[in-house]
Amino acid sequence: MAESIKVTLPDSEIPRQWYNLQADLPTPLAPPLHPGTRQPIGPAELAAIFPMNLIEQEVSRERWIDIPEPILERLLTYRPTPLIRARALEKALGTPARIYYKHEGVSPPGSHKPNTALAQAYYNKAFGTKHLTTETGAGQWGSALAYACQQFGLDCKVFMVRISFDQKPFRKLMMQTWGATCIASPSTETAAGRAILEKTPDTPGSLGIAISEAIEAAVTHEGTKYSLGSVLNHVLMHQTIIGLEAQKQMALINAYPDVVIGCAGGGSNFAGIAFPFVRDKIHGKNISIIATEPAACPTMTRAPYVYDFGDTAGTTPLLPMHSLGHTFVPPPVHAGGLRYHGMAPLVSRTILDKLVEPRSYHQLECYANALLWAKTEGFIPAPETAHAITGAIEEAKRAKEEGKEKTILLCWSGHGLMDLTGYDAYLSGKLHDYEYPDADIKAALETLKDFPKP
Ligand SMILES: Cc1ncc(COP(=O)(O)O)c(C=O)c1O
Repeated sequence: MAESIKVTLPDSEIPRQWYNLQADLPTPLAPPLHPGTRQPIGPAELAAIFPMNLIEQEVSRERWIDIPEPILERLLTYRPTPLIRARALEKALGTPARIYYKHEGVSPPGSHKPNTALAQAYYNKAFGTKHLTTETGAGQWGSALAYACQQFGLDCKVFMVRISFDQKPFRKLMMQTWGATCIASPSTETAAGRAILEKTPDTPGSLGIAISEAIEAAVTHEGTKYSLGSVLNHVLMHQTIIGLEAQKQMALINAYPDVVIGCAGGGSNFAGIAFPFVRDKIHGKNISIIATEPAACPTMTRAPYVYDFGDTAGTTPLLPMHSLGHTFVPPPVHAGGLRYHGMAPLVSRTILDKLVEPRSYHQLECYANALLWAKTEGFIPAPETAHAITGAIEEAKRAKEEGKEKTILLCWSGHGLMDLTGYDAYLSGKLHDYEYPDADIKAALETLKDFPKP
């Protein structure tokens, strides 16, 4: 056998620092604004919901931040994750491209999410937090935080978007197995949830609503903080261990990617694989970096760059980001983790600076490619991951047309073993594509017209 299929790193080679893109950004981020005064806020104003040790990371411009030993110890349960060459897929496509995927589905909850969940649980424990609240869309984040809280001895309450709660009962059971409480959002537990239920009792829920509930539950309960699974700078930074490992693994086989691809919901797994390569690009490397999303929730490809709330009730600071508007209620496509109205400020910035190219795909194409992946590579991807796979397949087909031997690297963000109801709907012909209407984007923009512009 001429070449390795799987590139693994020994435990001793696990990266010991996270990479902070804020140190190298050509254009610095616009500051978050206070939701009431609309003036820039500092660390003190975030202290009601986050512990100060994580707020320090949020605003840090240090290039490298040490990963504390207790986090490394837990990460070593499943990291370094393997880098695998998708040879069977390459063969099925007849492409001259070499496709490598970073397999984040090997973690206990099955995705990249525990990379930051473990860090956030550790820092909260060190700060003295007793309980954490959070939201979850697809259930991957909620189960990752449930697992991490169990590891560090914290209580955990998860508000799960109603439609996913109904579609994925086994995710709820995973959270309960790790000792967390999981409730459907909107719920009657919070004023935000009750207000939405009164207006729209049949709402499928949304990440924006679930975030409002989780924040309210945190600020109204003693010893409780809120934890977010994506979007914020420190969350994206915790995920850079993915790309840092991938760089070491590719160096071991004398390879370097021409194209790096990740799917983006709030932006964290994409940032995780991409930001170490964005750094290389800023320093002159010729590399394409592609972020993929659903056409039904086209935040990066069609939404404007604005100041907007991170949640529906308007309790979070205003963040500078691509946004479909905080009132967005997503169409019920199956990639639950990609149905968020906003995009991480750092990812939005890299798009504006043309360091990253966004692309969108319809769900039928993504499911067809997920099936092709499962039939060639074996692993069944999460519907979110299928959007990264679709980007990689598009690039591999292009390489074939151009007769180019490209190297493609994708973040395989999670397995789909808890998402089989989506596969069932696809296989029984019940899924449809959905183009998000221009009129809805315009209507959402109307609600933001008096907000400051970033
Ligand atoms: C498997 C998987 N991939 C990707 C995502 C998207 O999230 P993010 O953009 O934060 O990586 C999610 C979110 O739940 C997910 O579960």
